[in-house]
Amino acid sequence: MTVSGIPATDVTPPRQDDALAVLSSDVTVPLATGGEVTYAALDYAASAPVLRRVWNEVAAYAPLYGSVHRGTGHLSRLSTELFEASRETVASFLGARPGDQVLFTRSTTDSLNLLAAALPAGTHVLVFETEHHAALLPWAHHGHAVTYLDAPAGPADAVATAEAALAALPEGEALLCVTGASNVTGELWPVRELAAAAHRHGARIVLDAAQLAPHRRIDVAALDVDWVAFSGHKLYAPFGSGVLAGRSDWLDAAPPYLAGGGATRVVSRSADGGVAVEWNTDEARHEAGSPNVVGALAVAAACRALTEAGPDALLAHERRLLGILREGLAAIPAVRELSLFGADADRVPVVSFTVAGWDSADLARTLSDRYGIGVRSGLFCAQPLVRALLGASATDGDCDGPVQAVRASFGAGTPDEHVTRLVAALRELAGA
Ligand code: ALA
Repeated sequence: MTVSGIPATDVTPPRQDDALAVLSSDVTVPLATGGEVTYAALDYAASAPVLRRVWNEVAAYAPLYGSVHRGTGHLSRLSTELFEASRETVASFLGARPGDQVLFTRSTTDSLNLLAAALPAGTHVLVFETEHHAALLPWAHHGHAVTYLDAPAGPADAVATAEAALAALPEGEALLCVTGASNVTGELWPVRELAAAAHRHGARIVLDAAQLAPHRRIDVAALDVDWVAFSGHKLYAPFGSGVLAGRSDWLDAAPPYLAGGGATRVVSRSADGGVAVEWNTDEARHEAGSPNVVGALAVAAACRALTEAGPDALLAHERRLLGILREGLAAIPAVRELSLFGADADRVPVVSFTVAGWDSADLARTLSDRYGIGVRSGLFCAQPLVRALLGASATDGDCDGPVQAVRASFGAGTPDEHVTRLVAALRELAGA
């Protein structure tokens, strides 16, 4: 099959028995230029495809679906057991410490908002301006004092910047929020060093692992982070669940995130005519309402699949494809890759770039229409960072539209051909 003259001779779809095979590997999509082509899903950083294994486990469970923590029927008890076992699987995937809680939420955004709502009154939050909006915005939204730290020039500068800000904090509780891997540049942040800095100054740290968890092993105990948040839909398990895991003390002391059934131990009418509530003091405290057992099971299935496959083969696969992509982009003069920490910084397979003369939305649309490639364009919900990285290039090129960027990202199940197709398409569109 050819796409606008690009020969697709090196198509190597993953074997269907591959432990990390994804469902969408043989989906074809129509081209505006006529015909169909295998869809090149290169927007894993927004939402990754479903792992076949996750889908199979969800399908096997579906007929057995029952209420969780709410029934004595066999399927209710089974569903409750599976839901709680999913917590254990996630705890083990994260290397959680004894006593850590694993809460199922809707997403990383939900997890970080939950934590923001649970911080003790008066907690001062430190966050880099480079964060995704999910990590940048919840703290002030929930009424906390926030210090926004300037974009660092590199990992060591990030630690020095955080250290100086931590040292200048007033007495009282403090929290540092940091990403593990940028959703714009893919670059890894020095999480362990930032955790040590936070703890040296009596502060706590939460790790936004939305982009890290799908690509690198996370060990909460070894990193010494107090909490970690990630999303199922970026971890090959898009069934509506995310995770917040970590220390229980602030969570148990906080008002429940949602008031309702499941969060309560005892509810009674009080002498003053009101209602008195004794809230739970475990995960249930913040999980009011019927939990999303399918989502939790799916996340656990993805955690098991990634754990059993081991990190090495996936890391090698991603590094090789990242090399092909970045070398290909570097060879096109009109392309500029966005980077905060420099070209040699270690990174997950998330690459944002501009192409001189192209509006990013038009470019992304053209990649879809003419080449069957799915990427993301815009400011990636990290507007301060992307605007800073675009900087002077806002006047680059001769496009009149808003100057934004295009992002390609991939992972398990991505064949070489998807990446080489993108590079060839960009070469063609950039006239290189
Ligand atoms: N946070 C997701 C992204 O970066 C949606 O695309």
